[in-house]
Amino acid sequence: MNHSTQKPLLGVNIDHVATLRQARGVDYPSPVAAALLCEQAGADGITIHLREDRRHIQDADVYEIAKQLTTRLNLEIAATTEMLEIARKVKPFWVCLVPEKRAELTTEGGLDVANQIDYLSDYISQLQKVGIKVSLFIDPDETQVKAAITCGADAIELHTGSYAEQGLAGNVESQNAELERIKAAVAIAQQTDSELLINAGHGLTRDNVNAIAQIEGIYELNIGHALIADAVFSGLAQAVAMMKAAMYHQG
Ligand code: PXP
Repeated sequence: MNHSTQKPLLGVNIDHVATLRQARGVDYPSPVAAALLCEQAGADGITIHLREDRRHIQDADVYEIAKQLTTRLNLEIAATTEMLEIARKVKPFWVCLVPEKRAELTTEGGLDVANQIDYLSDYISQLQKVGIKVSLFIDPDETQVKAAITCGADAIELHTGSYAEQGLAGNVESQNAELERIKAAVAIAQQTDSELLINAGHGLTRDNVNAIAQIEGIYELNIGHALIADAVFSGLAQAVAMMKAAMYHQG
């Protein structure tokens, strides 16, 4: 299928709704309700990352979201035995394999696919055997793109974190260089495997997303932190009004 001329889809990462809930150890805000609201608002899919340390999304969230979604669930996991078992039970539409370090605030770099081709080929086929499509989160780097294709991945997700960081630091030249790296990685992926889907994500905001969304051949963007941060401000005025109404109503 040729996806190169269509506009990219939006996958919304709702991990930080769960972060807010876990900060208090209560049962709100509900990531399930957030997922359904995002779908109603036009999200093309929902992404959640079940981390080994369960710092935000919990196992029960994964099962419930998988049950209730009407679009597609993209489950991010580290390529461990524990996560393989969970993914094969949940059967999300997509699994995205990401590197994971306990001490990191968020996923720092892409997966080093080139150095674990045999392990990842087997891991991917175990997921594909139960009908799950597999994406690999990699840096925009030729070696990693080709290694992902060798492993039999259905998609790659290009890490846009460096591009975003350079923008935040005001380094326009470096940010442009990162953009060119991403474009080059897209071109290599297209030349090497025309069936491979090409996603991108990490650190995308309303300020930096357009240049990435304009790249021909990008299938889907996965966006979380900045979108949830925007939601605070688009919802805060209404939340104040709702609280006042709750305070003052009679009866
Ligand atoms: N894609 C992947 C593979 C990720 O790990 C993350 C962060 O969990 C995202 C996209 C979304 O990044 P952000 O929250 O910075 O938008």
